[in-house]
Amino acid sequence: MKSIRLHSYGDPEVLMYEESPKPQPQENEVLIRVYAAAINPVDWKIRQGYLQSKFPFPLPLILGYDLSGVVEAIGNQVSNLAVGDQVFAMLPLEQLGAYAEYVVANAELVSPKPKSIDFGTAAAIPSIALTAWQALFDLANLQSGQTILIHGASGGVGRYAVQLAKWKGAIAIGTSSSENLASIQQLGVDLAIDYKNERFEEKVANVDVVFDTIGGETRQRSWQVLKSGGILISTEGAAEPIVPPSADLRGIAIFTTPSDTSQLIQIGNLIDLGIIKPSPVERFLLQDAAETHNAIQHNHKHGKIILSTLS
Ligand SMILES: NC(=O)c1ccc[n+]([C@@H]2O[C@H](COP(=O)([O-])OP(=O)(O)OC[C@H]3O[C@@H](n4cnc5c(N)ncnc54)[C@H](OP(=O)(O)O)[C@@H]3O)[C@@H](O)[C@H]2O)c1
Repeated sequence: MKSIRLHSYGDPEVLMYEESPKPQPQENEVLIRVYAAAINPVDWKIRQGYLQSKFPFPLPLILGYDLSGVVEAIGNQVSNLAVGDQVFAMLPLEQLGAYAEYVVANAELVSPKPKSIDFGTAAAIPSIALTAWQALFDLANLQSGQTILIHGASGGVGRYAVQLAKWKGAIAIGTSSSENLASIQQLGVDLAIDYKNERFEEKVANVDVVFDTIGGETRQRSWQVLKSGGILISTEGAAEPIVPPSADLRGIAIFTTPSDTSQLIQIGNLIDLGIIKPSPVERFLLQDAAETHNAIQHNHKHGKIILSTLS
């Protein structure tokens, strides 16, 4: 099969478009003909070798964990999926392998693709939508009527956080650059704050939840807008430990997002119902992986990039 492999860590040029063995499903796995794989920020960090101590992947390595495609074969213990099913999935970070024409996945981690969207759009959903879902509902226990401040509301994770918060009945405040204020307003924020020209702590107080996808001084300034008993959830915990400034505040860092099929199915249903709008995607071919890594690594800001294996 065609795949993008790296034989050593380094700059985007290490990504080789080449033949590699087609995987075979074990008894609890499915073989998926991958139609599209998303590129996530962590992909280039793995490629550079920055995560070697945490994830000692054997080389050569095929990157990628968010994907969509069609089930081509199933192991003899698989009962939840059938050959021909259109699916999307997030592979465990320890496994990877989505930048390829075929991948095997534990059948329990594979969900039916939302019917209303194409394969490219579906491939971009799992990790960012699950990160937002788990932050808001599993960690912060966001309730109807509560107020949440979402930093990076125009980003991949932030867009889902805004929409999920509104679906839950919460009051959502979002920060973005001025270019993206209209876009986050369209997603439903009750208040949009231009982080480059306004100080959010002068406009917001007494929030129940801060969802921080930025870190650094944005996170440090966020503690003061929380009400007593409030909670800050950050996707940037791996970079900086979370230390609340007082005992009445809580902070939780998300290091990795586990896949959860029931959550993915609920997210897919919300998309098919038109309640959640998936992120826009930009399509490239699988063989363009090196070029797209360059874009991602150097602050690409226009939605998600997906690699299509269909030419
Ligand atoms: N731990 C995990 O499991 C996990 C999972 C997924 C993602 N993440 C991490 O979460 C972070 C966000 O991911 P993403 O996919 O949403 O990234 P993304 O799509 O690149 O979005 C980042 C957004 O941040 C905004 N931004 C930059 N500086 C800001 C500031 N000071 N205040 C407010 N907004 C600001 C940008 O908005 P403008 O363009 O409007 O400036 C951009 O849209 C990344 O660091 C990623 O690695 C972690």
